Amino acid sequence: MPKITLLNDGSSYEFTPELVPHGGHGKHLSLLDLAEHFGFHIEHACGGACACTTCHVIIKKGEENLTPMDDDEMDRLDMAPGLTLRSRLGCQCIVKGDVEFEIPSWNVNYVSEGGGSINLGDAIPNPKK
Ligand code: FES
Repeated sequence: MPKITLLNDGSSYEFTPELVPHGGHGKHLSLLDLAEHFGFHIEHACGGACACTTCHVIIKKGEENLTPMDDDEMDRLDMAPGLTLRSRLGCQCIVKGDVEFEIPSWNVNYVSEGGGSINLGDAIPNPKK
């Protein structure tokens, strides 16, 4: 049974793919769709349409258990603040096995506060500061 683990708070969830309905948060069984299904919020301003970068997550383990990145995700991810070699868009990567991931630190307060607004205040550092 695949398991996703959110390292920011250590919560993890096992699931049977056939039993998880598509919640409409990006691709079915994407990291974002699963996260929302299990009740932890990842920002997703465009609703999972690969048209923003707010669902940016960093994969710490299990990259091989996600579907490969397609050109649309790659192009969009290029615009993400704090991009790393292990970054993915949560709405686009479909989970096939165990995955450990974190939400970037610039957006972590948003998670702990339970959502409600888009917190991009510190996402793009101001070079003039
Ligand atoms: S929610 Fe907008 S790209 Fe994933």
